[in-house]
Amino acid sequence: MCGIFAYTGQNGKDAAKVLLDGLVSLEYRGYDSAGIFTPESGVIKTPGAVAELRKRVPKKYSGKSGIAHLRWATHGEPTKVNAHPHGSGAIWLVHNGIIENFKELKKKLVTKGHAFVSDSDTEILAHLIEEHLKRERSFEKATLKALKEVRGTYGVAIQYKGEPEKLIAARMGSPIVLGIGKGEHFIASDPSPILKHTKKVLFLNDGEVAVLTPKSHTVYKLSKEIVHRMPEELDWSAEEAQKGGYEHFMLKEIMEAPEVVVNTLRGRLIPEKGMAKLGGLEAVAKELANIERIIIVACGTAYYAGLIGEYMLEEFAGIPVEVELGSEFRYRSPVLNQRTAVIAISQSGETLDTLEAVREGKRKGALTLGIVNAVGSTIARETDAGVYNHAGPEIGVASTKAFVSQLIALALFTIFLGRQREMSVKTGREIAKELKALPKKLEKVLAGRKEFEKFAKKYKNARDFLFIGRKYNNPVAFEGALKLKEISYIHAEGYGAGEMKHGPIAMIDKDFPTFAIATKDSVYEKNVSNIHELKARKGPVIVLATEGDKEIAKLADDVVYVPKTLEMLSPILNVVPLQLFAYYFAKGKGLNPDRPRNLAKSVTVE
Ligand code: F6R
Repeated sequence: MCGIFAYTGQNGKDAAKVLLDGLVSLEYRGYDSAGIFTPESGVIKTPGAVAELRKRVPKKYSGKSGIAHLRWATHGEPTKVNAHPHGSGAIWLVHNGIIENFKELKKKLVTKGHAFVSDSDTEILAHLIEEHLKRERSFEKATLKALKEVRGTYGVAIQYKGEPEKLIAARMGSPIVLGIGKGEHFIASDPSPILKHTKKVLFLNDGEVAVLTPKSHTVYKLSKEIVHRMPEELDWSAEEAQKGGYEHFMLKEIMEAPEVVVNTLRGRLIPEKGMAKLGGLEAVAKELANIERIIIVACGTAYYAGLIGEYMLEEFAGIPVEVELGSEFRYRSPVLNQRTAVIAISQSGETLDTLEAVREGKRKGALTLGIVNAVGSTIARETDAGVYNHAGPEIGVASTKAFVSQLIALALFTIFLGRQREMSVKTGREIAKELKALPKKLEKVLAGRKEFEKFAKKYKNARDFLFIGRKYNNPVAFEGALKLKEISYIHAEGYGAGEMKHGPIAMIDKDFPTFAIATKDSVYEKNVSNIHELKARKGPVIVLATEGDKEIAKLADDVVYVPKTLEMLSPILNVVPLQLFAYYFAKGKGLNPDRPRNLAKSVTVE
């Protein structure tokens, strides 16, 4: 995600102070490294967040204008050298997003004599603008030329030492908002650092570029055509601005699911060949072709993602998979060898039990891999290779968007390993095609979110809740129950629908509702039978069904519809309604879903 903040003014304010104060309200967007640049005092960067940066900024550091950044790493470790701002000659910039064609651009620039100091994709853009500046002799023209060559996403703020009062902002896929003050202008990735200076803001659209001086602001399209759009007045608090206008981070993060799918997939599918290109696995591709067994280790939500991964990998890659809780794996005596791959799944990359499971795997000679969201985290560093989720920081304690990205990463793993083995091009293509279709389908699911507010009200007095599902959606039932219990503190259980008769159905009566996942798949009929059994015991049932399934509505007390997709990918659509249900249920009880009692975001103790 990353946080960007830039300032230019003529009111005698010290840009360094404005920027450092503003960065604090962006800290939720990234906190692995930070940096600041003013044309007068130069650049200062550090690993860590704003407090670290403040310690390094000397008292005499100042400026009338400047740019600043908080990083959430995507390419390159969270080190000082990879922190933003990045510069080349007189050009300095801060960036949020991913420049996809950075390798080919870098190659070209190297032949022109450019030397790079970091692994960051961002540094390429600074060099590219500088290269164009040699010929164009105009900061604006050089920037436009460079932006047209770039593929990928960006929200950027750029500064040129030759015109220190001027800032350029541009947006393609990553948010940028301008603050319009009196004798001063701001650029930020959300309005939170701007609001204490001015309520007047202008949101850039994709493909727009803005040129700001203390007195003027002009917005262009990349085609140079001028955009006439009036600023709007925002009456948000800084906290509302951080949440993008949503009431809680949890809801904002659930709503980010379509974008997260795009980001986790970006550059990793070759749909026409039915292949997945996972740069992080290239170095171990040979070992992976020879592994005979996979053990997935994880905790909590990540463990449930692992259970779904087991189904995917066994069905489509034909590799035997076991899924283990990190907390169990480390204390028993697992039998592993060099033909075993241990895959750790972790949002934070710091969960101690998962980390210790990785270490146990290493000790026993297994190949260790990570599916991790936090770049440069301990699990990412200690595994032999891996795939980053690129879901952006997850602030809500209950994991939502990270789970979606973990499933996407597991689907990519499945294509990668499957195509090394028996998976046909046709199957690879089918999965790739459906993966690409998911963001639109997720948008549809999310558009119906108000329904869940109604259900939460209707079932608000329930003291217990059961979640059932089969096959790929059995772990989704576990995850639905976990979400509900962790933020609303009521008893919720996830069960395999087929297990009901072996005990749990004894609990069912008119006061014990069930959320049944019964989308159209290979176990649909079986699920319908289980719903009949619940209804025969007068248990209220909410059914999660596939669009168009009118029959199931006759059986259920309430129905939630989701679009059709491949069975192996159905958990990605099916989990979102369960996340929304838990969210609105907790909210309806007057609880804060972002701050569940007794829980920490990252569990770094046993
Ligand atoms: C539940 C939740 C936890 C985490 C678990 C693992 O909503 O957030 O169950 O999934 O603590 O955390 P990571 O993925 O950071 O290893």
